[in-house]
Amino acid sequence: MSQQLARRLKTVKPSPTLALNAKARALAAKGADVLSFAAGEPDFDTPTHIKDAIKAALDAGFTKYTATGGIPELKSAICDKLLRENQLTFTPDQVIVSTGGKQAFSNCFQALLSPGDEVVIFSPYWVSYPEMVRLADGEPKIVDTQASDNWTPDPKELRRALSPRTRAVVFNSPSNPTGAVISRPALEALAEVLRGHDCLIITDDIYERLLYIDEPFFNIANVAPDLAPRTLVVNGFSKAFSMTGLRLGYAAGPKEVIAGMQLIQDQSTSNASSVIQKGGLAALTGPTAPIDEMVKAFARRRLLMTGLLNKIPGVKCRLPDGAFYCFADVGELIGKSYKGAMVSGSMRLSEILIDDFLVAAMPGEVFGAEGFIRFSFATGDANIERGIARFADFVSQLS
Ligand SMILES: Cc1ncc(COP(=O)(O)O)c(C=O)c1O
Repeated sequence: MSQQLARRLKTVKPSPTLALNAKARALAAKGADVLSFAAGEPDFDTPTHIKDAIKAALDAGFTKYTATGGIPELKSAICDKLLRENQLTFTPDQVIVSTGGKQAFSNCFQALLSPGDEVVIFSPYWVSYPEMVRLADGEPKIVDTQASDNWTPDPKELRRALSPRTRAVVFNSPSNPTGAVISRPALEALAEVLRGHDCLIITDDIYERLLYIDEPFFNIANVAPDLAPRTLVVNGFSKAFSMTGLRLGYAAGPKEVIAGMQLIQDQSTSNASSVIQKGGLAALTGPTAPIDEMVKAFARRRLLMTGLLNKIPGVKCRLPDGAFYCFADVGELIGKSYKGAMVSGSMRLSEILIDDFLVAAMPGEVFGAEGFIRFSFATGDANIERGIARFADFVSQLS
């Protein structure tokens, strides 16, 4: 007997990032020399002091349920971090610790949205935002940005997208997939538009430490402090501390939103893993040297990868300001012929790369930006050189 699934699942797409990674892993498991640029995770080991804290917590028997929203010492360390590094004041009752930033987002949309409510998302976007909004019965309202503007959202477009049904606007800077940082003046202009519309402002700061420009990190609550009371900061340990599989993230924001998120988490997953929370505490209070080393390596690789991509005829790549992605413009390659068949779009291009060249890279289409390919530089220099050479080989075979 076939089971009928919920109607809401019909509008939700599976994660293409997870699917391509799974394909790359399966090929590698069969012994293929796959070079993967698809993953959104640092290739560095989790720093030792974080692993030690997790092991110590395990040995001490810290294996029982904790408070749903997180252990008090971690919530308090998060408040300290937000004040010290982000100049933002929060109290522990404005913080929730979740199983990754992803769960924080999911909780937020579940708590915020009723059927038909809208969330403004700028494209190119992280693949999960629109799907999580749909899973919460909301509607993503996509606002396009352009490579020629360094992917900066246009305030006029934002104003046009806002409606009485808009419940939230999501910012992600540095961005996945573009690596772009929204400049201070641009953020100020966007804040001015939002002053006229009472909705939640969400700032996804997960890539804040992976920044290669001279300016320190800032978000919309920094440039527009009057909007801070209705800003939800989402952050996590995955990217900054190389803790992707350990699943730890958090959100800080208006008390009623956090209380709503906590209610969802209470009745779904309860607390993030007890021992991993201790690891998170060590991450926020421990030495930063391992992180600085990692960021230095990413900064070097970003130059290497961008340089190699720009040498390929028909490929253009802006130097990313942050995160660990090169978002390459391959528009000129689309429509060309490969082995007698047309390369119809970024999805087809990505399929050819994995099937014929054993290179995994994400098609721009899945981020809402056709004509682009995302290559992660969270991998070693030698892999970057070999992988981009394979991509160049593919391009040389186009006619
Ligand atoms: C833009 C962005 N936000 C949030 C996340 C969530 O990360 P995690 O759930 O591992 O904390 C990711 C992960 O890929 C991301 O790229």
